[in-house]
Amino acid sequence: MEIISTVAGLRQAVANAKAKGLSVGLVPTMGALHAGHISLIERARRECGFVVVSVFVNPTQFNNQNDLATYPRTVEADCEKLEQANVDVAFIPTVEEVYPEPDTRVFDLGSVAEVMEGAMRPGHFNGVAQVVSKLFDFVQPDKAYFGEKDYQQIAVIRRMVELEGFKLEIVPCPIVREADGLAMSSRNVRLTPEQREIAPLIHQTLVDNASLSLHGLDLDSLRDMVVEEINAIDGMEVEYYEIVDAKTLLPVHSWSEVSENGIVGCITVWMGDVRLIDNIKYPEQK
Ligand code: PAF
Repeated sequence: MEIISTVAGLRQAVANAKAKGLSVGLVPTMGALHAGHISLIERARRECGFVVVSVFVNPTQFNNQNDLATYPRTVEADCEKLEQANVDVAFIPTVEEVYPEPDTRVFDLGSVAEVMEGAMRPGHFNGVAQVVSKLFDFVQPDKAYFGEKDYQQIAVIRRMVELEGFKLEIVPCPIVREADGLAMSSRNVRLTPEQREIAPLIHQTLVDNASLSLHGLDLDSLRDMVVEEINAIDGMEVEYYEIVDAKTLLPVHSWSEVSENGIVGCITVWMGDVRLIDNIKYPEQK
């Protein structure tokens, strides 16, 4: 594995791979790698001849400076994991390398970026679009891999790809969970042992709620039940829970409004100062 920190070096390594006829897969990450990231890398490894993983904590997507300062940084351990995963290039640039001057681009990301995370974290998705568009420009990948835990992020990236005219396939990959159901996240390491013990209740509540939907309960009641149940757990506070169209991400309030896209429930929960997100696809009503 080659560890590259400059854009010029990265472009050269990719050009060499392409000259050999290899297809290029990109897995963008912010490091603090866990089994969820490794599952994206393994998929890229199976599908592409040359795999680039970027490790870069992107400052422009943090609207909360404390979150940026406390975001886990574990570069040495990350490199070991990338080596073991048989990655070709680990791209680990500095902030100055990615942003030699401030990125003032404002993307017209439309409605997918306005709801949920977009409403709660102003500027967050514009920052994601900035860095991912730069990475796509540096690497010009054939495929790029993103985890479905950040469900809305994938919709936003698809929109950015459409706006910028990138020619690549976005590959969404299923959420990877701990044995007790907690969605894997780099932020989980910030949970106290007590918080970690109850954190799986988020996923459990969503699973129970989705199975209740089979009994024909209306969507607004299902949504309210999730909020009430999680807020009743000591140490958890729901920021939002929305049941939305799986493509447009617009809220869906009744079963009669459900389109062929299906619906997804997206949640954000605060546990102390740690913000966890998760989602669940609701079963189709027969
Ligand atoms: O999902 C993430 O880790 C980040 O938002 C991404 C896509 C690597 C961009 O910084």
